[in-house]
Amino acid sequence: MIPLPDDFVVTPWEVSGDVDYDRLVEMFGTQRIGDELTSRLIKHTGEHQTMLRRGIFYSHRDMNLILDDHEKGNGFVMYTGRGPSGHTHLGHMMPWIFTKYLQDKFGVELYFQMTDDEKFLFGPDLTLKDTKNYAYDNALDVIALGFDKSKTRIFLDTEYSHMLYNIAMKVAKKVTFSTTKAVFGFTNSNNIGSIWFTSMQAAPAFLPSVLKEKNIRCLIPCAIDQDPHFRIARDVAEGIGYFKPALIHCKMLPSLAGSDKMSASLPTTSIFTTDSPEQIKKKIGNAFTGGAVSVEEQRQNGGNPDICSVYQYLYYIFEVDDSKLEERRRKCQAGEILCGECKGELTTQVTNFITDHQEKREKAKDVVEDFMLRD
Ligand code: TRP
Repeated sequence: MIPLPDDFVVTPWEVSGDVDYDRLVEMFGTQRIGDELTSRLIKHTGEHQTMLRRGIFYSHRDMNLILDDHEKGNGFVMYTGRGPSGHTHLGHMMPWIFTKYLQDKFGVELYFQMTDDEKFLFGPDLTLKDTKNYAYDNALDVIALGFDKSKTRIFLDTEYSHMLYNIAMKVAKKVTFSTTKAVFGFTNSNNIGSIWFTSMQAAPAFLPSVLKEKNIRCLIPCAIDQDPHFRIARDVAEGIGYFKPALIHCKMLPSLAGSDKMSASLPTTSIFTTDSPEQIKKKIGNAFTGGAVSVEEQRQNGGNPDICSVYQYLYYIFEVDDSKLEERRRKCQAGEILCGECKGELTTQVTNFITDHQEKREKAKDVVEDFMLRD
């Protein structure tokens, strides 16, 4: 078992407590995105993208090999995914927004996995029909973000099963029960589908090489909680004839309940792409902030943006202008603005974004089939 500290938990199925992202890099054995890699990325994209600049995408494995292959003209592909256990919320979309950015800049293909099998196997209350329905619902959000139709392929594990099963078997043969116990903390009482599942999540990393009948490097942008699956995928890759998948990891968007309660995506503390303006207003209105107990006290002592979920949402997604963000931070600390003002600003930003997204989501319904990869 990965030696996780007592004060937080990060596994592909549970994130709770106050996550120390620096320690995660050490525990998982990944690399920080340092100056050299940053310069290379800037050289290729022509800019220092906001999520990189702010350290939201902050860790990687073999990203330099991806850029080497890009420079040599060998190309690369991307793979990411979603566990369809409910509607999509902003925290899920964050890495997809970055993935879309990379697709735009590098012009590469994206393979998008919907793990409806996973959410059935691990979710006590979900039927296979539920997870399949959510997979198609969530696919609308992926499409609405504007991924290139000619370069993006979405598939469900239970539907693209002929292809995936054949790859997953090769992975599964190389992974022992003791490895899955060590990596994921499984015990004898976990169902055997869960134990097998990591081979399904590894499979798409090799899928493009199978489809193209030649090895091509694969980059997986994802939240760092998914890294354990890909550690296994990397361990088996060369043994079954493929490149180790590369990764670029992001932190997880805190919930509106505050950064120390990042766990379960509770309906009241996450903003879903299906929320109405009233729901958005209410959720942000009830969000945890770094404000003082009274107006007088806040005017006098200021607030604390570092623990404020409203500030975090602006930092992670909604305020891309560094100087405006810095000004808000300063005013908050100086007691010049109160929480209501920041909540109002965030509500406007989120409502505009979601309203626009919902229109694109409606239009996506007509083109879903164009994105689907089928046996
Ligand atoms: N297991 C992920 C989840 O629960 C979904 C997923 C599948 C994924 N393949 C992926 C996420 C690749 C990131 C990258 O959400």
